Amino acid sequence: MKGIILAGGRGTRLHPLTKATNKHLLPIGREPMLYHPIRQMVGAGIREVLVVTSTEHIGHVVACLGGGAEFGCTLTYMVQEAPRGIAHGLSLAEAFADRSKVCVMLADNIFEYSIAPYVDAFKEQPAGARVLLKGVGEPEHYGVAALDEHQVVEIQEKPKVPKSAYAVVGLYFYDNQLFDVIRMITPSARGELEITSVNNVYIKQGQLYYDHCKGRWTDAGTFESYAEASRFMNENGNRILPHKEPRARTGGTIPPPINEG
Ligand code: G1P
Repeated sequence: MKGIILAGGRGTRLHPLTKATNKHLLPIGREPMLYHPIRQMVGAGIREVLVVTSTEHIGHVVACLGGGAEFGCTLTYMVQEAPRGIAHGLSLAEAFADRSKVCVMLADNIFEYSIAPYVDAFKEQPAGARVLLKGVGEPEHYGVAALDEHQVVEIQEKPKVPKSAYAVVGLYFYDNQLFDVIRMITPSARGELEITSVNNVYIKQGQLYYDHCKGRWTDAGTFESYAEASRFMNENGNRILPHKEPRARTGGTIPPPINEG
């Protein structure tokens, strides 16, 4: 499995911190934010990682991360010239993925526990996509999963009236249908190719599986969430914690596909 880290965008919700630099180079605890997704991927056995970032900041991103030897992986870089959405950033990774399964992480998503169990679950999954759900207080700021007893039946991007309290967090797994799926979707009202649109295609195909995210999780895109990410990474000395049960996951070994019967 290959890793793709999306580190583009303008980070406007963190102005003025992001006026001169990329959000993902800001510190979280003792390290630049971007170290976290790389350490997470390497800790889960992913050794080939692509970082997609903006034209303005790619020089600083490369200066910060180098070739990957420091982390135990090989790093490749691509430029997303305009902030046209997460799925657009992902579309640039087709040649890199080369038909492998991919693990995609938004670089501002910080997880207290290792992502390794979810990576392992996706390795066992024969096909399709996999997402991670987390119960949150203000789901309207995220992609929100509507669930029946077993399955995700729809994901809505930042809905005014959320159908559940489950946010779809910024860690996604896809098989080699991903790039064909991205070619099928159209821009949202805000003019972006949304990752939620990609996930909804997998739902319609009955191929979206999920796990519940264990431990603390936050994105770090606003002052409040950035402070929360800094708080728990400081508490843990920037360590990523192992799960108490090494293979713990609640979506089932192979959860039932959605739209089953
Ligand atoms: C993005 C996704 C959203 C997801 C969130 C997780 O939103 O569009 O579905 O829940 O990341 O961090 P953004 O915060 O980039 O607007």
